[in-house]
Order: sequence, then structure tokens, then C-alpha cells
Amino acid sequence: MVNLTIDGRPASVPEGTTIVLAAATAGIALTTNVGCMGQGVCGACRALVRRTGEPEVRTALACETPVEDGMQVSFLDRVAPRRPHAYSETDLVDGWTAYERVLAVFPEAVRCRHCSGCDRACPKGLEVQKGVNLAASGDIAGAAAVFDLCVMCNLCVAACPEHIAPNHLGLFARRLAAAGTQRPADLIRRLHEITSGAMTIDADACTDKQP
Ligand code: SF4
Ligand code: SF4
Ligand code: FES
Repeated sequence: MVNLTIDGRPASVPEGTTIVLAAATAGIALTTNVGCMGQGVCGACRALVRRTGEPEVRTALACETPVEDGMQVSFLDRVAPRRPHAYSETDLVDGWTAYERVLAVFPEAVRCRHCSGCDRACPKGLEVQKGVNLAASGDIAGAAAVFDLCVMCNLCVAACPEHIAPNHLGLFARRLAAAGTQRPADLIRRLHEITSGAMTIDADACTDKQP
């Protein structure tokens, strides 16, 4: 058995158990800190982890991290950017002004001080700093690719001393890149079939018609 502490509560679980399942065993309610329950895609299980013999506290996704003896874990509540970054669909459509839009919506991006805090915080191992700097230099597609596997855990938001909100900048870059990309051929054809009337849609198809 492995003994650890989660949010100040002791847990004793078999080796190989993830922190999330250990938390459930310890009687901790898995509400705000769990979404996809172990798929590693929702980013809700963000946590601070200190391992035995290590002075440093590291970040982790609790559902992807196996327990270790003597480990101390604290779940982190939702981390929000300092301010919202407002933009609309129309901000995404003109590729010629994409760089201007990035600088207008995320003016902090050019102030990156290259501290690598975001890189160290990212539990997915993404090159967050590189993505920020690509976006800030106008390489929107490059930035979008860096953030392709981002799960929006917001740990990079908490780590950034310039309040850049790297993941939200990355999401904006991904949206800009997607808006400037040809849609999948099957989707284009199907939408054309619907708008041209070749394919009819039964709006009530999903309603329960049982008495
Ligand atoms: S880029 Fe930020 S939000 Fe995305 S996975 Fe890494 S730390 Fe989490
Ligand atoms: S944490 Fe912020 S300032 Fe530091 S490298 Fe990342 S984006 Fe730049
Ligand atoms: S519960 Fe979704 S990433 Fe861990």
C-alpha cells in the first residue's frame, strides 16, 4: 500500500492508483476537481504535488499521476485569467488582419519575459512559452500547433507573471487558424445538401413522441 496526503487528508491505496482515485478512496468529494474522470482531457484535476525528498512543488493532472509514498497533494480550484479576452467570430475571418487581432486582444503577449514558468507548469509538456512567442511574432499557425493538445487546465495562467493567459492566447490562435482553413470535404458537401434542400432535416426527430 502507498500512503499519502491529499488536501490534508490521509489516504492509503494500492500502488499504481492515480491521485484522483486515491482522493475518492480518502472520501474527498470529486466535484469541481474532476471532469473527464481519468481521460486527461478536461484539465479539471489540476493539483500541486510534493514528492518525498523533493523541495520543489510541481504541478500535475491528478488523474494522470500515480501515487507515491509520502506524496503531498493539494487540488487547485479554478484559475481564471486576470481579465477576459473578448473577441467575436468576425475577428476570426480575415487572415490578413489576424496578427493585428492577436496584438489587440492579447497585448500582454509581447511582454513575455521568457521565465519559462508556463513551460514548467504545463502538465502536458507543451512548449507554452514558444507558443506565446510565435503568436506574439505573427506566426499564428505555428502557435496554434503548439497548443493543439492543451486541455485548458489554466496552470500556465497561474504561473505567468505577465498575466498573458497563454492557453487563452493559444485557443485564440487555434480558432484563427481553423477559421482560415478549408473545412473537411464531407462536411462541406453535407452542409450544401442541407442548404440546397437536397437533404431534409426532421427538426422533431429527437423529440420523444411517446404519449
Ligand atoms: S498550455 Fe496551459 S492550460 Fe494548456 S495544458 Fe499546458 S498548462 Fe494547461
Ligand atoms: S510564464 Fe508568461 S512571461 Fe513566463 S515564459 Fe511563460 S508566457 Fe512568458
Ligand atoms: S479529470 Fe479530466 S484531466 Fe483529469
